[in-house]
Amino acid sequence: MTQTTDIHPDDDLATITTRARAKTDISHIYEFLGCRTSDAWLSLAKDNLPLLLQDHANCEKKAAGTAMNLIFRYEFHRDLQERLAQLVREEMLHYEQVLSLMKDRGIAWHYLPAGRYAKGLLKHKRTHEPAAMVDVLIIGAFIEARSCERFSALADVIDDEKLARYYKYLLKSESRHYEDYLALARSITDESIDERVAFFREVERELIDTPDEMLRFHSGVPSRELLAQSQAHA
Ligand SMILES: [Fe+2]
Ligand SMILES: [Fe+2]
Repeated sequence: MTQTTDIHPDDDLATITTRARAKTDISHIYEFLGCRTSDAWLSLAKDNLPLLLQDHANCEKKAAGTAMNLIFRYEFHRDLQERLAQLVREEMLHYEQVLSLMKDRGIAWHYLPAGRYAKGLLKHKRTHEPAAMVDVLIIGAFIEARSCERFSALADVIDDEKLARYYKYLLKSESRHYEDYLALARSITDESIDERVAFFREVERELIDTPDEMLRFHSGVPSRELLAQSQAHA
């Protein structure tokens, strides 16, 4: 495998944020997900970009960590190893890019506890193998797919043009990550994964479509209390 540690010119942040970019087609992601993001989430997110960027940074770091854990845990799956290694590299590159975007905007790093989303999905993971691995990979696919759907929706509404371009850039790799996770889930079992995909689709839809007390990158519809709080701070 010939891989270089240099950043590909297409991944240079200055280029990404200044060059106009056609949007990657993510219609297959809309079909995969159980619902679209609510307008209420989008409009609150649009007004809270520093918080969203902090949470986004945390998500990229966690995505790399999850892929790394899978590498250690399932070291006998050769195909899994290579795809996951690439995933770790890409997520760490995104992490660095988001840190740099935060720095440009003068956003100081601050601790932000995780929302309910990932926990809400992972609590349904089965405990025996290979079912546990199938579930983790399906959950990974949903997280990546939702990220994609939100990057695309945010790119259309935010007033920060550079960030909008960056979100469009992410669509390409994050939509591939979603496909990778699904393909990997299919590759490690002889049984159909359709039933589990349908199950997690519904769990994920509920996390996105029901009131949530916190604003996070993957949070649900902002609750009345959350909206009142944010209006008081505006
Ligand atoms: Fe990423
Ligand atoms: Fe990703």
